[in-house]
Amino acid sequence: MKQTLGRKKRQNEMARAKRYRMDIGRLLLPGSVATLEDGRCQVRHPAEDAVEAIFGDKRAYLEAYQARMLPEIERRKAGWPRGQIQRPLVETCILRHDEDWVNELFLSCRFVASREGPFNEYVYNWFKGLSPERLQYAEGWYSEQAPVQELIELDGYLVQRRCPHLKADLTQFGVVEDGVLTCRMHGWQFDLATGRCLTSDDRGLHSIPADQAAERERAEK
Ligand code: FES
Repeated sequence: MKQTLGRKKRQNEMARAKRYRMDIGRLLLPGSVATLEDGRCQVRHPAEDAVEAIFGDKRAYLEAYQARMLPEIERRKAGWPRGQIQRPLVETCILRHDEDWVNELFLSCRFVASREGPFNEYVYNWFKGLSPERLQYAEGWYSEQAPVQELIELDGYLVQRRCPHLKADLTQFGVVEDGVLTCRMHGWQFDLATGRCLTSDDRGLHSIPADQAAERERAEK
């Protein structure tokens, strides 16, 4: 029964290989020799059943591979610097103006770090947001999690602090001219009197004359 199941599994694996057109690819193993001739590619493997050995029992193949390679991987890892990052890696990120060091550097497995206490997502996000746009997005996201949206006063109006586009901080990026607020992050504009967005149809700005707001507050007391 066990053998039948094993054969069935192998047949399924081979059928799957055909389904994904792996049968028209050429698998090269260590020791395989490929000969290109007359527009054809002939491959000779080191053993007759070398390919079947992989697809026939993938687990056994991968476990043997792991056992073979692990000592070499451990040897190389032992030579990696501990607790610090190699300078050339950092310099490469800087030269390429990488905006996301988490993917470019930290996931390279080339350094070891440890932490005390719980995971600090602020540190992680800091290294993911190394451009003004990404930083603004992250700040905006966190500010949106706050229960009350902060209001600021601009040119006699109380307006939401975060730009309706990508949440730039309007205390830093907002400029007002002739009743029109421009967010310098991407240039979106808003009519302060109505809150209407002059750049896009679907996102208005929360805006109210400051004296009206003060009156309302007095009436509510
Ligand atoms: S964040 Fe894009 S225009 Fe303000």
